[in-house]
Formats: sequence, structure tokens, C-alpha cells
Amino acid sequence: MSKHSKTPQKEQQEKEQKRTGYTYEEYKETADWLLAKTKCRPSVAVVLGSGLGGLAELMEDREAIKYSDIPNFPQSTVHGHAGHLVFGKLNGKPCVCMQGRFHMYEGYPLWKVTFPIRVFHLMGVDTVLVTNAAGGLNQDYKVGDIMVIKDHINMPGFAGQNPLIGRNDERFGPRFPAVSDAYDKSLRKLALAVGQELGCARIMREGVYCSLGGPNYETIAECVFLNRLGADAVGMSTVPEVIVARHCGLRVLGFSLITNKAVMDYDSEEVANHEEVLQTSKASSKIMEKLVTRLLPRIEPNNNVV
Ligand code: HPA
Repeated sequence: MSKHSKTPQKEQQEKEQKRTGYTYEEYKETADWLLAKTKCRPSVAVVLGSGLGGLAELMEDREAIKYSDIPNFPQSTVHGHAGHLVFGKLNGKPCVCMQGRFHMYEGYPLWKVTFPIRVFHLMGVDTVLVTNAAGGLNQDYKVGDIMVIKDHINMPGFAGQNPLIGRNDERFGPRFPAVSDAYDKSLRKLALAVGQELGCARIMREGVYCSLGGPNYETIAECVFLNRLGADAVGMSTVPEVIVARHCGLRVLGFSLITNKAVMDYDSEEVANHEEVLQTSKASSKIMEKLVTRLLPRIEPNNNVV
């Protein structure tokens, strides 16, 4: 081989970088591989945010599969995100939990970030429950509050970053999907009712989540701006998965755990940091776990799956 010829690995790498999406056959291959690997037939997929992976440990008949063992699956690179797909039952409900998700700031294109969602759809999942850690922009929010996501603002979308960009595959959904009803109203109502039953109405909120690309936390001016735009919480995830889930007709429920108050004041000495986010989400994860486990068996089958 001459000094300038490419190695097969390099060629593979370059081919990978030129890709603009997965093929239908790749989604199908992964879904079929997983269906052959587990007897579990989940109707709900739970995406676990930073520090919230403990929920998957509570599953009965637990089967954990490493992302690195699953064909076509991206790998998680973030501290605090384990990188397992866990099948089993949560309070009797057959579920698949993502212990670790993929983010834009890791360098993944959004079609990779959202790969698991279409795989879940092809496996027969009809509802996605997304969780995340978020900074509180709403001045009434406190650290430890749980916000039921009512709506979102997709800031990367304003800059041309959307997981649905590229050729549309009608087998998944339409070219121009509506997302004005992204967060299912009856599931939101159920979540707030379950929060009340658990005696935690005080910490339950309902609000607007704003996603940014990250990985840096926001400037003070950005926090003030986002809050004025109508955002109650800010984070670096969730929205791409929600868009892809809605595109293929899945029903969505989302929770943001408020792990820190976004800094909105130039006199403040506080600065956001990942360790604090993880610590708070671990400290508050028990209540999130209770909420999710109690809620899951009460999610009715979704008859609207396309
Ligand atoms: N900003 C962005 N993402 C976050 C934050 C934040 O303050 N807290 C947890 N994730």
C-alpha cells in the first residue's frame, strides 16, 4: 500500500461521515435483532436523562443489552449515562428503558441521536416517556421540582438542525408533521394526578422546555432571553427524540427534573456545573422513579399509532 492510499478503516470512517441518515432496512434490522433477543414486547419506551438511570434497576424480569452489542446503535459517551437498553416490567408494564441517550453535543447528527425511537416504533412501542435534567428559568421553580413538559422550543431547529431534515420516508410519517400537540394532553393530566396522589403536588409543574445544542451552559443574557421567549426550563436533549416520535405517531409524555436554577442575575455567584446536575438528579431520582412506576400501568394502549 502506498504512503497516501487509505486504509479500509479510514475509508469506512469517511463513508460514515458522508451519510445523511439510516435506511429503513437498518432500523428494521435493529428492531428484529432486539425482538429476537428478548421475549419482552414493550408498549412504552422510557428515555432516562442524566442521573435518572436508576429507574431501569427497578425493572422485573430485567434484560440489559449494551449499546455496543446492538447492530447499528450509536454509543453513549457522557459520564452519568450508562449505555444500556433495558427490557422488563416496571410495576407490571412491559417497557424498554434507555439508560443513556445520545446528544448533539457529542458530535452525533440528529438522525443518529434519534435512531432508537424509530427502532422502538418498529418493535411495537406506542408511547415514549422522555425524562431529562434541566435548568429552571421560571423564577417560581425550585431545585428538585418536576416539570411535566407542556410544549417545547427547538432552538437548534431555528438554526437548521432538525432530525427530520433530508429525504422523508413515508413509512415512518409525513414530510410536514404537526408538533403543536406533541405532548399528549391526557398523559399530562394523568402525570399531574399521579403527582397529587403521591403528595408531591407542591413540586409538580407544567411548562415549556427549551432545547439548546450545548455543551456549554447558558450565558446570563441567554437565560433572560429564553425566559422572555416563554421557556420555563432549559436543557440539551429531548426535543429531537420527541420530534421523531411524533413523526411516526408515537404518543409522548415528558418530565424535566429541575436540577439547578439558571443564572439570570449578574450579581449571582452561582455557575451551573455537571456534577451539581448529577448530584441533584440522583437526590431527586427517587421521587421521579415513584412517579413513573405508579403512572406506567395507567397508560392506556394508544390506538392512534400510524
Ligand atoms: N442548562 C442546560 N442544560 C442543563 C441545565 C442547564 O442549566 N441543567 C441541566 N441540564
